[in-house]
Amino acid sequence: MTETTTLLRTIDLYAGAGGLAYGFQSAKCNGFKFEIVAMFDNWKPAIETLKKNFANTEIVNMDFDTYDGDKSVFTRFAPDIIIGGPPCQDFSHAGKRNEDLGRGKLTITFADIVIDVRPKWFVMENVDRILRTQKYKLVKTAFERAGYGITEKVLDASLCGVPQKRKRYFMIGELWGPNGVLLPYLEKSLAIKPMTLRDYFGDSLGVEYYYRHPRNYGRRAIYSIDEPSPTVRGVNRPIPSTYKKHPGDAAEPDEKVRPLTTLERSYIQTFPRGYFFEGSKTEKEQMIGNAVPVKLAECVGKCILNYIADSAKTKQKRLGICLEEKLTEKPNSSNLSSMDGP
Ligand SMILES: C[S@@+](CC[C@H](N)C(=O)[O-])C[C@H]1O[C@@H](n2cnc3c(N)ncnc32)[C@H](O)[C@@H]1O
Repeated sequence: MTETTTLLRTIDLYAGAGGLAYGFQSAKCNGFKFEIVAMFDNWKPAIETLKKNFANTEIVNMDFDTYDGDKSVFTRFAPDIIIGGPPCQDFSHAGKRNEDLGRGKLTITFADIVIDVRPKWFVMENVDRILRTQKYKLVKTAFERAGYGITEKVLDASLCGVPQKRKRYFMIGELWGPNGVLLPYLEKSLAIKPMTLRDYFGDSLGVEYYYRHPRNYGRRAIYSIDEPSPTVRGVNRPIPSTYKKHPGDAAEPDEKVRPLTTLERSYIQTFPRGYFFEGSKTEKEQMIGNAVPVKLAECVGKCILNYIADSAKTKQKRLGICLEEKLTEKPNSSNLSSMDGP
C-alpha cells in the first residue's frame, strides 16, 4: 500500500537565509509535511541565497513597510501556515532596545498579515526579550481576538539538536485551537543535556578551543569545543594581537586558538553542508547570525506535525466509533411500527 503525504502549504515572511523554512521543510511526521511555497524578504543577499537553496519555491522581494492590507499578495499561495521571524534588533540585547525604532513595527506587520490572511496556523519566532515589550502584548491580544489559540515557549537551541546556547521565543497559533496545546509536544522533544560542539562535529573542526569576538572585553571570548557554542551573532572578527586572557576563557590565547570560519559558523547554526550563502563576507555573517538554527526550526515543525497527526487519528477513531454505532444500531419500536405498514 502506498503511503500518502499531506502537504501543508507554507509561506515564510522575513525569510533571511532560510533557516526557519529549511528546518520546517526538513520536518516530517506520520504522513504530514510542510511545503514551502513562497518566501519573502527585501534584502538582496537574502533573496539570492533563497533562490539558490529553494529551487521550487517562489521567492518574493517585498518591503513589508509598504504592506497596505492587500492580502492577495499572500492569499494567492493559499497558505495553511505562515511562519516568520520579524527583525528583532530593536528588541535584542545587542540592539538599541527601543521598540519604537521602526523595525519593532515589523512584528505588528507580521500579525496584521496573519490576521488578514487567516491561515489555520502561524509561527512567529523572535528573541526572548520580546516578552518584555508592548509590541508583544499588542500582537498576542490581536491574535487571540482573531480566534487563534496560542502556545508560546522560549526554547534553548542546545536542547533541540543544535550545539549552541541560543534562546529563542516561539509563538504558535492555531485558528480556533486551544491555548497551550503544543506545550507537551515541545517539552517532550527537549534533550536532557545541552549539545556541545564535540557532540555535533566530533573532532572534525581540528581545534580544541576557538575565539568568538565578544560584545565587550568584560566578557570571555575563548571557548572549548566541550561546551555548546555561545550565540552565533552577525559579526566575526580575528583575535586582536593585544588580546588579554579573560578569567572566564577556556584556554590561553595562543597560536592554536582561532576564530571559526563563516562556513563553520553556518554549521553551528545547523545549516547542512552544501547550503549556499550569497553576498559579501560581512553579509553572509549577518545572514547566518540572524538565522533560526535549522534543527531548532525542525524541532518546532515536528511538534506541530505530531500534534496534527494525533488530532487526525483521534478524529478518525471518533468517526469509526460513530459509524460502528450507526451500523449496529437496533431499529427502535417507532421505526418498527412505521415499517409494519397498515
Ligand atoms: C531575523 S532575520 C530572519 C531570519 C530567518 N527567519 C532565518 O531563519 O534565516 C529578519 C529578516 O527580515 C528582513 N527584513 C527586514 N526588514 C524588512 C522589510 N521591511 N521587508 C521585508 N523584509 C525585511 C531582513 O532582510 C532579514 O533577512
